[in-house]
Amino acid sequence: MLNKDQVVADNDWFSSDLLFDKLYPENLRVLASRHWTPIAIAKQAMALLAPKQGDRILDIGSGVGKFCLTVAQFYPLVEIDGIEQRSELVAAAQQAKATLAIKNAAFFLGDFTEMDFTKYTHLYFFNSFYENLIAQDSNDANNIESADLFNKHNRKLYKLLKSLPVGIRLATYHSTENEMPADYHIVAVGTDEELKCWVKV
Ligand SMILES: C[S@@+](CC[C@H](N)C(=O)[O-])C[C@H]1O[C@@H](n2cnc3c(N)ncnc32)[C@H](O)[C@@H]1O
Repeated sequence: MLNKDQVVADNDWFSSDLLFDKLYPENLRVLASRHWTPIAIAKQAMALLAPKQGDRILDIGSGVGKFCLTVAQFYPLVEIDGIEQRSELVAAAQQAKATLAIKNAAFFLGDFTEMDFTKYTHLYFFNSFYENLIAQDSNDANNIESADLFNKHNRKLYKLLKSLPVGIRLATYHSTENEMPADYHIVAVGTDEELKCWVKV
């Protein structure tokens, strides 16, 4: 993290991924290129999702909160929540939120299935379960490599998505698309083709 005497003006944190990632301790910062959504991708995801004032967004597997905090900064009239299973990452997200003085983001510790998805108008999913398939892809050493777990999480997300009303919008980044029910259609693709915007029809 930056030293106390290294001051960064409020908006400057978002001027580059390199600077933004300095909000986090070294052991989490080194994971950024593989595990945390780049600022430009978060901005583009929101341009595709096109939320309105008062909309509520959920990041399913929010990590250190980089996606949520970027959205909260550039879309101050929406509310965004993140659900994350690792307490160290939730603590890092809350610390970064305090440094940025962001009010419209909240972070919850737990499994994504504990969240009430019906409260949200928009969802974001950055391939959170892939780490169960390839343990080397995990952001910690205690991760369990298990295709069963990957399939179980995908099925749970599939069922949750299936239960949501027509019109719900979801952005995926590096998704295997196994979790997507057939009534979700791709309506836009980012300049990085791994970013896709889906609408339930
Ligand atoms: C690829 S990272 C993405 C982080 C964040 N969404 C971003 O875009 O910067 C996926 C995160 O999902 C979390 N995750 C995986 N399975 C989860 C589950 N069942 N419930 C909650 N979080 C989960 C992981 O711990 C990891 O931090």
